[in-house]
Amino acid sequence: MKKILVTGGCGFIGSHTSLALLEKGYELLIVDSLVNSFPVVIEKIISLLNKSYPNIEKQIHLKKCDLCDLNLLKKVFQEFNSDKPISAVMHFAGLKAVSDSLSFPLSYWESNVLGTINLLKVMDEFDCRNLVFSSSATIYGFHEKKKDLKEDDFKKPFNTYGDTKYTIEKILKSLVQANRKDWRFAILRYFNPVGAHTSGIIGESPRNFANNIMPIINSVALRQREHLYIFGNDWNTLDGTPIRDYIHIDDLVEGHIKALEHLFKNKSKEISLNLGTGRGSSVLQLIKVFEEVNHINIPYKFSPRRDGDIAYYVADNSLAKKVLNWEPKKDLHEMCKDSWNWVSKNPYGYSKQ
Ligand code: UFG
Repeated sequence: MKKILVTGGCGFIGSHTSLALLEKGYELLIVDSLVNSFPVVIEKIISLLNKSYPNIEKQIHLKKCDLCDLNLLKKVFQEFNSDKPISAVMHFAGLKAVSDSLSFPLSYWESNVLGTINLLKVMDEFDCRNLVFSSSATIYGFHEKKKDLKEDDFKKPFNTYGDTKYTIEKILKSLVQANRKDWRFAILRYFNPVGAHTSGIIGESPRNFANNIMPIINSVALRQREHLYIFGNDWNTLDGTPIRDYIHIDDLVEGHIKALEHLFKNKSKEISLNLGTGRGSSVLQLIKVFEEVNHINIPYKFSPRRDGDIAYYVADNSLAKKVLNWEPKKDLHEMCKDSWNWVSKNPYGYSKQ
């Protein structure tokens, strides 16, 4: 049984990936500062698995640790590494709210970049040099033409959050270029992850409310807010609202598992891949599907464009499909259904559990 260290494993993407890693038989140490997540998610993961996998709780461990605390991070590695070495790190930890990154840039540089440098230093010290990194499509920045984004397209992030992700990508590449040690990196650039585990037992539940469209649609569906404000209906798209590439969390998770296995097969030293479905949907299309699938009316109003928004952001995912033999399977209907299934069963997320 290989050991994997998962940073940010209590968050949305980290928790769903941890569940899948456990099902695959890995032993996990989750390292999470818990600033934007809840530890109860570990109990939920165990409850989902313990019927099929008795003693699963012995396979998952949680340490509260901020990656900026280098000394604590070293101790955590030492402890988990003692009987058998850690084979790889899946690195999800980081701050991710675009607007906050513009208001509090130092926190973003510190948590994301300094946190990653600390992680890499400690990994190096313990001879663990396989890393799957959670990056973002936001690193591509503005594009004039409505074309699907390819991994080698021009990159110019336009917010501090995107800058930190792009900077980390450059740090990882510099380690490969230095060619002094056998580092292997899979850099995964997410488009718009939505949905939840089909059980409705785990899902997205940040401590700080996420201003992304799906959590907002859900809060309108819960009647916690009256309307959704659509940011602009004058974009150059089929119905005037922006197009995004929404991807179900299950497909995203599968991409991570395959990327990890790709590293273990020593197939490449560094690979950057877009994880999106390659299919774009407008805001109005998303609302319509959510309403149809869940039989709930979502009232909306148009408001001015949001600063920093873009008309069209869709992945060319052909490289990920080819390299990982990966195929996203779930459509917008399943994304909307699973998202509402989780939220309707857990209107306060994990906060009141
Ligand atoms: N939108 C609204 N009203 C809202 C919220 C969003 O109309 O209340 C619209 C936005 O204008 C955009 C679409 O819904 O057209 C999606 O917006 P999100 O905020 O959900 O997502 P973004 O595409 O803006 O950004 C997300 C992540 C970023 C990531 C990016 C990569 O939040 O971190 O996808 O594609 F970098």
